Amino acid sequence: MDDVNLEKPADLEAEEGTVVTAAEEKAPGETILEVENLQMYFPVKSSGIIRRTVGHVQAVDGVSFQLGAGESLGLVGESGCGKSTTGRLITRLYKPTGGSINFDGKDIAKYTPREIKPIRREIQMIFQDPYTSLNPRHTVGSIVGAPLAIHKLVPRNKILGRVQELLEIVGLNPEHYNRYPHEFSGGQRQRIGIARALTLHPKVLVADEPVSALDVSIQAQVVNLLKDLQKEFGIAFLFIAHDLAIVRHFCPEVAVMYLGKIVEVADRETLYNRPHHPYTQALLSAVPDVKQAAIGGRRDRMRLEGDVPSPINPPSGCRFRTRCPLAQEICAKQEPPLLQIGKRHKVACHFAGELGRHPMQPVTAGVLGVDSQGNPDPSVTPIDAPADQPGFADTWFDLPNQAMSKG
Ligand SMILES: Nc1ncnc2c1ncn2[C@@H]1O[C@H](COP(=O)(O)OP(=O)(O)OP(=O)(O)O)[C@@H](O)[C@H]1O
Ligand code: SF4
Ligand SMILES: [Mg+2]
Repeated sequence: MDDVNLEKPADLEAEEGTVVTAAEEKAPGETILEVENLQMYFPVKSSGIIRRTVGHVQAVDGVSFQLGAGESLGLVGESGCGKSTTGRLITRLYKPTGGSINFDGKDIAKYTPREIKPIRREIQMIFQDPYTSLNPRHTVGSIVGAPLAIHKLVPRNKILGRVQELLEIVGLNPEHYNRYPHEFSGGQRQRIGIARALTLHPKVLVADEPVSALDVSIQAQVVNLLKDLQKEFGIAFLFIAHDLAIVRHFCPEVAVMYLGKIVEVADRETLYNRPHHPYTQALLSAVPDVKQAAIGGRRDRMRLEGDVPSPINPPSGCRFRTRCPLAQEICAKQEPPLLQIGKRHKVACHFAGELGRHPMQPVTAGVLGVDSQGNPDPSVTPIDAPADQPGFADTWFDLPNQAMSKG
């Protein structure tokens, strides 16, 4: 991408000072993004001259969720579970191999590069590493101003003013627009990345571990900046992190991912105080003691052992079963559906329950029409409990009663 000459006269299409946006304004909370059964399988090629596809990395496999305008959803999980891939699919840096991405009433999953161009303005991404995500040969002015020039949204002679405004918004000196990324600290570089993401007034921002590469002392400053920006501009956030403590401060709703799937999603209070999935319980148990206070302090612990299995050949049934201390026969035979079990709580586990109170019998048998070992049981009429859908319904599967309920 060429450097933008900030001093050149205008020859652009837009009227002076206008920033055009394509998506309709949504009322706060109204669904702006709905992802259903999203899938990304990367091909694995053999070595040699003729490179055949010998398998697939199932990086994202059947992810569904909803995001309301101006809201924020946290996405957490261990390294390699598919968080960044999910973010890159939503921003359409990757084309999904399956599923839909409904943005502002349009399914953008299969859009061609030409069709996706106007949507790129609306869905932006902040990257994890501020050292590699900024081109070292470009000035800050050209990095932040480039999207305005590419999308021809502001006359060229107005770009510098807009860039300086954005630098000020993110807490940088507007006079530093002619400096290069190496002249800034890590925290300042991340602010440049944030300014670049804001340039086009996005409706949705995917923040992919935006502070994990930063010094702990400045993480809070950048998180607070993002919070202020969200409030001021009403941007919907998908906040990706492996640190449950950071997500708790930012997101009223959190989804937990394991090996390409969402295993639990809930409002903040429920997820941190009454998680029902053994993996969420293990993640919370692994938070260092100093951070336990920040997430409510927990007494019981679920230990997580072993490594995440390969996403090329994931375990049958429940993908977590090779590391789950509660795994039983049914876990290898049947994949647990992501069932809504409360007003704003979904979980995918045959033995879903609070830590220390997991049931002895699978809670999903009646829904799947199987016996307690996971074998098809013709005498059971499956309960019609909607599963694996984006968003929350008004009725849900009540675990104690094993029936649908309105709460
Ligand atoms: N372009 C690609 N080609 C092939 N495999 C990929 C590609 N990108 C990611 N993967 C694989 O997909 C899986 C998910 O990767 P992803 O980067 O989404 O994980 P993550 O949850 O963001 O991890 P981390 O916390 O380390 O950033 C990994 O097994 C990864 O190796
Ligand atoms: S379904 Fe089975 S293996 Fe999977 S998390 Fe639940 S108990 Fe563990
Ligand atoms: Mg990642």
